[in-house]
Amino acid sequence: MSTLDGRELILGVTGSIAAYKAVYLLRELTRAGARVSVCLSEHAREFVGPLTFRTLSGRPVLSDLFDPQSDAAVEHVALAERAHAVIVAPATANLLGKAAAGIADDFLTTLLLAARCPVVMAPAMDGGMWEHPAVVANVATLRGRGVTVLEPDAGALASGLSARGRLPEADVIVEALLTALTVRRDLDGQRVVVTAGPTREPIDPVRYISNRSSGRMGYALAAAAARRGALVTLVSGPTTLMPPTAATFVPVQTAEQMREAVLRHAAGSAVVIKAAAVADYRVRNAADQKIKGKRDLTLDLTPNADILAEVAARDTGAFIVGFAAETNDVVANARAKLEAKGIDLLVANDVSRRDIGFDAEENEVLLLDRWGGSRALPRMAKTAVADAILDEIQALRAAHPVRKAVR
Ligand code: CTP
Repeated sequence: MSTLDGRELILGVTGSIAAYKAVYLLRELTRAGARVSVCLSEHAREFVGPLTFRTLSGRPVLSDLFDPQSDAAVEHVALAERAHAVIVAPATANLLGKAAAGIADDFLTTLLLAARCPVVMAPAMDGGMWEHPAVVANVATLRGRGVTVLEPDAGALASGLSARGRLPEADVIVEALLTALTVRRDLDGQRVVVTAGPTREPIDPVRYISNRSSGRMGYALAAAAARRGALVTLVSGPTTLMPPTAATFVPVQTAEQMREAVLRHAAGSAVVIKAAAVADYRVRNAADQKIKGKRDLTLDLTPNADILAEVAARDTGAFIVGFAAETNDVVANARAKLEAKGIDLLVANDVSRRDIGFDAEENEVLLLDRWGGSRALPRMAKTAVADAILDEIQALRAAHPVRKAVR
């Protein structure tokens, strides 16, 4: 079940060209089961009409507190008290300034003063404004009060300028919201290393050997662990995903770079989760210049070190989790892999199925532990699988506190 299921949210939208993106965000939130009341500032209405928001939220749109003609049938204080969180997206420089100064001159700013729940603001503004000392000071004030103010993305802006000022992507906003809402902090202050994505093994300066891993499962695990309070290091091969803002991000390319990063960060960690699809082989003597010609070519491959087995053999006291991508005899192969690598928990999935695993949004996995236990999880979104895996890790750590004794 989604963490947003049944949550009462207020989505404030202010007057930026990015206001249309709030429509997509609203759809994401309602799809995740949240009940959302949308509050438009006067200027936001110039960009997107209230009808779109009213239709998608299934609720009246809240607008000018003082306008008897508006849809604002609910009293702002009662609404703010009922809400589990307020999201402002896009948040203009004007809104940030008013919120920092405690100005309450419309429905949204008044509601922000009344709200005692978590508040997430996703700024969007034109070139250079984000760096203006006034905006910098306002953001610092808001963050100092516990408001989550996201960093805007860099890139092309509506004015044609290129700068930091674009509204963060909807999934980044949702992730920040989940972090703000999380009450279960069962990994508080504990170090967790997660690996994700494929590795790339160079053939020459422009070509490489890799695999189809998208990194989604590992990124979902890193985000979930961070939400639960962990100090997460995400060691990732190349992917197209945005790293979770709360994690320390260590980008790598090759298996050897991943090995070095994992061994460095594993020391002192409570949990190491190896969701990466490490290339089993690398080219022994990768060319340092581009290979030319159309002749037959034989690549001389040599195996990469097994990072997972190496971390487990170091016996640092960390709880070690591996993944197994299997196409046949999933249970037998996974059990053999768990034992061969000397790890604590193995997450197995059947990659012969197209609907789950590699590059899919959903996953259906089998959890096998070193104490002989096995548990099949139903098919669900990778974000939900991530929390279920962390639940299992925490249950096993609690049940087997002196793990070294059973090695
Ligand atoms: N793994 C690793 N280092 C490697 C290869 C794999 O740490 N050089 C880890 C992966 O991150 C994953 C687990 O080992 O957690 C299983 O990887 P998988 O490719 O399924 O298994 P292999 O050990 O490569 O065995 P096989 O290819 O025979 O299935």
